[in-house]
Amino acid sequence: MCGIFGFVGEGGKVRDLVDALKKLEYRGYDSAGVAFWDEDAVRLFKIKGKVSDLETALGDILDLDIKGGIAHTRWATHGEPNDVNAHPHFDCERKIFVVHNGIIENHKELRKELEKRGHRFVSDTDTEVLAHLIEENYYGNILEALRRILPLLRGSYAVVAMHSDEVGILAAARKGSPLVIGKNENFCVVASDITPILKYTKEVIFLDEGETVSVGGTVDFVGLKDSVEKRIFHISWSERDAEKGGYKHFMLKEIMEEPEVLKNAMAGRMKGSKVEFEELKGWEDFLSNVEKVKMIACGTSHHAGMLFKYFIEDLIQIEVETDVASEMRYRKTKVDDETLFIAISQSGETADTLETVRKIKEKGGRVLSLCNVLGSTLTRESDRTIFLNAGPEISVASTKAYVAQVVVLLLLGVELARIKGKNIPAGFLDDLRDIHARFEEILENSNLIRDTAREFVKFRNFMYIGRWMGYPSALEGALKLKEISYTNATAYPAGELKHGPIALLDEDFPVFAIVPTDRMKEKMLNNIMEVKARKAKVVGVVTEGDDEVFRLLDHTLKIPKVHEYLYPLVMAPVLQLFAYFIADERGLDVDKPRNLAKSVTVE
Ligand code: F6R
Repeated sequence: MCGIFGFVGEGGKVRDLVDALKKLEYRGYDSAGVAFWDEDAVRLFKIKGKVSDLETALGDILDLDIKGGIAHTRWATHGEPNDVNAHPHFDCERKIFVVHNGIIENHKELRKELEKRGHRFVSDTDTEVLAHLIEENYYGNILEALRRILPLLRGSYAVVAMHSDEVGILAAARKGSPLVIGKNENFCVVASDITPILKYTKEVIFLDEGETVSVGGTVDFVGLKDSVEKRIFHISWSERDAEKGGYKHFMLKEIMEEPEVLKNAMAGRMKGSKVEFEELKGWEDFLSNVEKVKMIACGTSHHAGMLFKYFIEDLIQIEVETDVASEMRYRKTKVDDETLFIAISQSGETADTLETVRKIKEKGGRVLSLCNVLGSTLTRESDRTIFLNAGPEISVASTKAYVAQVVVLLLLGVELARIKGKNIPAGFLDDLRDIHARFEEILENSNLIRDTAREFVKFRNFMYIGRWMGYPSALEGALKLKEISYTNATAYPAGELKHGPIALLDEDFPVFAIVPTDRMKEKMLNNIMEVKARKAKVVGVVTEGDDEVFRLLDHTLKIPKVHEYLYPLVMAPVLQLFAYFIADERGLDVDKPRNLAKSVTVE
């Protein structure tokens, strides 16, 4: 969603603001803008379209020496995407400039009152009220003015403001939307996520809920009432991790990184035939009494949670409930001492997931989170966090983070089984330990997946089917295909076909079957016969050497033989690459699919 960047310091150029916006592009946006001090005035450039359009509009100005400024990529919520609604927004005198992520829920009332008092609005956005409110409360100090208006606001915000008379000072505040601060010898920087900061420093500070900060010669944090001491976090990601590194798309690069991601996610956690989580130390008593697990997540992360349900119910026979967080947050979920809540989120900033976690915490529930982003809101609001260690995921479609989520959940299941005195099936841990090598084999043969994808490029409908642990894989495969290639892809447990969806199938409606050699293979074969009888073409993921399935399908994508609990894992890169190649063949913007954003910070 929207992205924020700002810097102050000596030796900067307008280009620095634009370069930072390029690092934020992956979040999804429809317009971009910058405001910067030039002598003692502030100059503003904003435009509907890409950061590259803004760059072209700026031309020679890119090389102008500046003492700082603010920049923004906007993903429209209030008001259509156009030049006027793009950020930064300004007050009546064009002295105060603001960029904002989030939603000011009471913006209509505030705007009405401000207009009554003579303020002139130019945009349709909720953000513009911030500039006018600061104008009314400004007595020579931008941070104090910003602090004065915060109690008037309802909703969520990360906001950075500047005043033309206070050259070299930015004021920032957060509630519900993240802001990160960094500092090196020459610059102080503030941004909505870590990626544009990596160029300046790897030591960062996260703004907490309700805090404000003035970023200038010094960085002064103020809590709700008083000055606060902040913890400095070291970021292990490098600037290069967040670059394409020769790949055509981030998505492809991130899929190719999966063998490494698996190793990193398991490092220090899998010791011989034992699994250990430092993060769970002291929770042994609680975990041994856990009778129920409830998963909180959205989208791809929710599919990882569904896999955990099948795995744990099989391994330990405890009940696992999964629901998308956008539903769970409005349900009256029971919270007790025997329930473990697991929140899964790549970004740690997904609004529905966070709000559900807050509700559970208010009722006294214990939340363990699985997250990829250090310092993100989820990690600070959960009781315990297990980091995924997947490195920055830039492509909007989640790939390597999903693989890391699944492997961490499998390890977590093993740990829970140990705590509860249950046996782990022979062979599972051995196969798990070497799983990165199986991924390497699959990725080396990615050209075979590309060839199959080419055969299916012309189809505009797809039905994914699977059973047991193959069902969440079907859901995830269909989600990948629909989000990046705009193909109408649905997913069903194969046993449900005859209760309705089979009516859709004919020679123009292919089926993607998840049919590894697991306990449900025979049932899947029956379902495949049913769809073939309706003349639907069937492509399937099958286990290497399983000739029975191989003979039945029109096209096969092979995965190596592993323990049946691990098929969803080795299946993941195949499903991801199939979707990737279809989208790429169609010439689509794979990394930034239309209407989508990387981190969904609004409800
Ligand atoms: C799909 C995708 C989304 C996210 C969802 C949750 O490829 O990326 O469905 O999985 O928006 O995001 P996180 O995991 O950041 O909470």
